[in-house]
Amino acid sequence: MKKILVLPGDGIGPEIVAEAVKVLDRLKADGLAVALEQGLVGGSAYDANGHPLPEDTLNQARAADAILLGAVGGPQYEALDRPLRPEQGLLGLRAELKLFSNLRPAILYPQLADASTLKPEVVSGLDIMIVRELTGGIYFGQPRGVRTLDNGEQEGFNTLVYRESEIERIGRSAFGIAQQRGKCLCSVDKANVLEVTELWRQVMSRIAEDYPDVELSHMYVDNAAMQLVRAPKQFDVMVTTNMFGDILSDAAAMLTGSIGMLPSASLDANGKGMYEPIHGSAPDIAGQGVANPLATILSVAMMLRYSFGQAEPADRIEAAVSKVLDQGLRTPDIAAGGQATVGTAQMGDAVVAELD
Ligand code: IPM
Ligand code: MG
Repeated sequence: MKKILVLPGDGIGPEIVAEAVKVLDRLKADGLAVALEQGLVGGSAYDANGHPLPEDTLNQARAADAILLGAVGGPQYEALDRPLRPEQGLLGLRAELKLFSNLRPAILYPQLADASTLKPEVVSGLDIMIVRELTGGIYFGQPRGVRTLDNGEQEGFNTLVYRESEIERIGRSAFGIAQQRGKCLCSVDKANVLEVTELWRQVMSRIAEDYPDVELSHMYVDNAAMQLVRAPKQFDVMVTTNMFGDILSDAAAMLTGSIGMLPSASLDANGKGMYEPIHGSAPDIAGQGVANPLATILSVAMMLRYSFGQAEPADRIEAAVSKVLDQGLRTPDIAAGGQATVGTAQMGDAVVAELD
């Protein structure tokens, strides 16, 4: 029996996670051996316990085989001291569980080609995997802070730092994924300016010798941002640093029409993972029942595939999502002009019905 910790979080998190739980319950009825447990993270944990990542949640997360997370954050928490903000719940889980490898697929469902802001011929058939380093780089580097200079002026600073071993670890993760896909890996850096990413480039080139079947290329991050909107289909797998990956994965997500469609996996060295939609807590639409639950439902498919080695139910979920799109079901974020829309629960129910 595998243990799944469910962390709905804030904003639309509870609504979309509820639909993903319906899907898990449906698969349980078919014999999937999982046990679900709920926990608190982010702003809701702060409200209940005064901390975005309570010790209890951390212990639950350590004991679980996988974690399903909704989203964290909201405007009411923005004035809190940084260590108490909802985002720290997420960053703390990533760091404490050593979830260094973040897989962010950007797949365009053919049914949604019209939802993209790019021309259909530019994005049709798009299937990219961004592998983002998740526990290092400027997000975690020390020293960091804001200090007051002798002249009274304030100075903010963060540190972009990577050890060879950290680069090698994410590199091997990305090469392994490229081997299972189109065998092309593009490593994104800023080696023309930043020493740390010059080292990044050297390490990627060195380990490439162990993956002769994968073609490695290098690209500066500014060019990569441009190429993503110019000709995104040139990419198969991209591997990059924590912050570059944060930015590029939002851009890649939008190529597919809606960030509401895209799941993600954050994995440790043993395949334990946290699964979450790429999008945030969307406080502006929270509680209205209109959020798109498909990214969260697709995150369950990634969980089954990557943490539990269960490809068959994962395929079933993905096929069910494709079928509800075929039926023309659209939440507002993926509706083309004038198309009728459905709510969060209707969309979740339709996926469950397709699983039957
Ligand atoms: C993401 C988010 C997070 C990040 C925030 C919420 C801390 O943008 O998962 O991409 O920057 O990593
Ligand atoms: Mg982000």
